[in-house]
Amino acid sequence: MNHLPKPQPEALAHSICVSERIAERLILARGWLSFAEYMQLALYEPGFGYYSAGASKFGGAGDFVTAPEISPLFAEVVAGQIDVVLRAIGLGDLLELGPGTGAFAAGAIDVFNRCGTPIERYRMLEVSADLRERQTERLERVGQERPLREWCDRLPETFSGVIFGNEILDALPCERFVTRDGQYWRLGVGLAVESSSSEPRFEWRVRPADGSAPGDDEFRQEAAHLQQSLRLQGIELPNDYCGEWQAGLDGWFESMATSLKAGVMLLADYGLPRVQLYHPERTRGSLRCYYRHHAHDDPFLWPGLNDITAWVDFTRVAEAAERAGLRVQGFTTQMAFLAGGGIEQAMSRALETANSVSPGMTTAEQAQLASGLRRLLMPGGMGESVKFVMLGRGDEIDLPSFALRDLRHTL
Ligand SMILES: C[S@@+](CC[C@H](N)C(=O)[O-])C[C@H]1O[C@@H](n2cnc3c(N)ncnc32)[C@H](O)[C@@H]1O
Repeated sequence: MNHLPKPQPEALAHSICVSERIAERLILARGWLSFAEYMQLALYEPGFGYYSAGASKFGGAGDFVTAPEISPLFAEVVAGQIDVVLRAIGLGDLLELGPGTGAFAAGAIDVFNRCGTPIERYRMLEVSADLRERQTERLERVGQERPLREWCDRLPETFSGVIFGNEILDALPCERFVTRDGQYWRLGVGLAVESSSSEPRFEWRVRPADGSAPGDDEFRQEAAHLQQSLRLQGIELPNDYCGEWQAGLDGWFESMATSLKAGVMLLADYGLPRVQLYHPERTRGSLRCYYRHHAHDDPFLWPGLNDITAWVDFTRVAEAAERAGLRVQGFTTQMAFLAGGGIEQAMSRALETANSVSPGMTTAEQAQLASGLRRLLMPGGMGESVKFVMLGRGDEIDLPSFALRDLRHTL
């Protein structure tokens, strides 16, 4: 980890508080926590976790950059497709899950005003008080009155319209497993014993899901389902294979589907269909941590200061959504979604609009717009690693974004 920049003393002090909080839970749990519980505490523990405390996470000064931060063209195209859905269903709201800095919302509100989109409210589900404040400030700068903006900390009981989320599923706490002689064992967290410092340190602890720890039954069911469905495809994971899955996806989609009375969910996340994600050669899984734009694979380093993510099994997403009564109406790569939704035309329009008034766009600004476009579409990068999935009930809505490359058969 020598390549990582060292945190400031106050950030390190905060991380020690997070570690102590996790250590307390570990002691209460008799020395072993599932990785999902650890991730929940490290990312979301109120007042302490990475997303719940005040650190700057997004953008150049943060730890990672998401698509809405990379280029305004992302919101321009995605909001254009949301406009198509809202027109198809008549009138509805938009509910954005985890809106980050509000970059997507700012761009989308602009599109809705320009297009006269039939939308009443732009709702944002945000549990972090600190991020809400950032979103409010960002949206105040947009200045438009409509649609009405509302924040909530839980799903509305009933909702009609579009539920949109960028990089939400890959931020949900995940279970980790390792294979031992054909069995899936739980890869959880324990306190490191040889620690020379006074602050708690954590390490991986493997144990069979034998029913003696909370969540063992769910883990066994999930593991059996994964193993069986891989076997149907002729895949047997080798010994010592490590992988992850997002915990509690069935419940998550059940609550989304209960709320969604009409309309669709549109989700964009890093991930793959199951047979590609659990390819026997991907032996170390997809768990990644981000600190100041450096990716690493040690989630026990500076808890509370790192983002932690794992790629999404989109086949599991489709299963969970279908169990909850939703159908997969579209599945494709980010590159195909944005290209099908007209990102090149959006780029030309942005240049034309900016250059129609004096002094126009500088060469540096034009180069920045072009570089953002390339990053969004990059085949070896997020253009292909990020997938868009649309889930809905009722009649299928044809979106140009999904027409270019329909990948539903790969799920
Ligand atoms: C990687 S950030 C993405 C932020 C933003 N969507 C963007 O693209 O810049 C992940 C976000 O998911 C949010 N999140 C995690 N679990 C969530 C849940 N169950 N419901 C809604 N948002 C959640 C986190 O609080 C965090 O803001």
